[in-house]
Amino acid sequence: MRIVLVGPPGAGKGTQAAYLAENLSIPHISTGDLFRANISQGTDLGRKAKAYMDAGELVPDEVTIGMAKDRMERPDAENGFLLDGFPRNVSQAEALDAMLKSEGMTLDAVLDLEVPEDEVVKRIAGRRICRNDSSHVFHVTYSAPKTEGVCDVCGGDLYQRDDDSEDTVRKRLEVYHTQTEPIIDYYRGQGLVVTISALGKVTDVTGRAMDALKKA
Ligand code: AP5
Ligand code: ZN
Repeated sequence: MRIVLVGPPGAGKGTQAAYLAENLSIPHISTGDLFRANISQGTDLGRKAKAYMDAGELVPDEVTIGMAKDRMERPDAENGFLLDGFPRNVSQAEALDAMLKSEGMTLDAVLDLEVPEDEVVKRIAGRRICRNDSSHVFHVTYSAPKTEGVCDVCGGDLYQRDDDSEDTVRKRLEVYHTQTEPIIDYYRGQGLVVTISALGKVTDVTGRAMDALKKA
């Protein structure tokens, strides 16, 4: 399957993507994770992206689209993928359509995670991520690690993302409403959107997502 996951910052896209990708045997491709990996490796691309990310702005399309395309062309993505955080505006959605069309492919579904804004703010404020593996995501109250600051999975250090400060989160939410939400209408026009509530237990949300994708 070829799936796009969409939802506001902190909706639980990364959390759900880890389970969905495993259930569906497709790679989880997160442009945010790709940028953060480039930043920690000190690459040119990482240096370009960091200022935009720290400000809560979108990284320019000319950087983002090429990086996403390179990742989607890797052999593990041949039979499908779960995109998390890409596309993030209508021009990226159009670029993705063109990319898929040139290979004779189409998307199967766009899974839209709906969460009220006050819940999103709570989820982001308490989020902690493992330095060794960005798919090891915790929350100080909702899914606290057994030992404070230490990853349950691999023992790595947990940290708070630079762009999870209150001001930057406010900016990211504004960018989501103005630039990313329009892609939901764009894909609605193609009959691809399935919307689910992302409230409740993580496993319940995964169940809801799997049911919705089966019907898509
Ligand atoms: P990105 O990394 O994509 O961030 P985001 O979209 O803002 O989303 P988040 O990672 O903040 O949240 P999430 O929905 O994955 O939530 P999570 O599962 O962690 O992008 C960051 C930046 O990179 C952008 O601002 C931009 O600058 C740049 N960028 C990336 N892609 C780009 C693109 N295509 N174009 C241009 N720029 C781009 O969950 C959050 C917390 O909630 C966690 O603590 C988790 O444990 C908890 N949680 C999850 N589910 C539940 C639940 N059901 N109940 C309780 N707690 C829960
Ligand atoms: Zn870890």
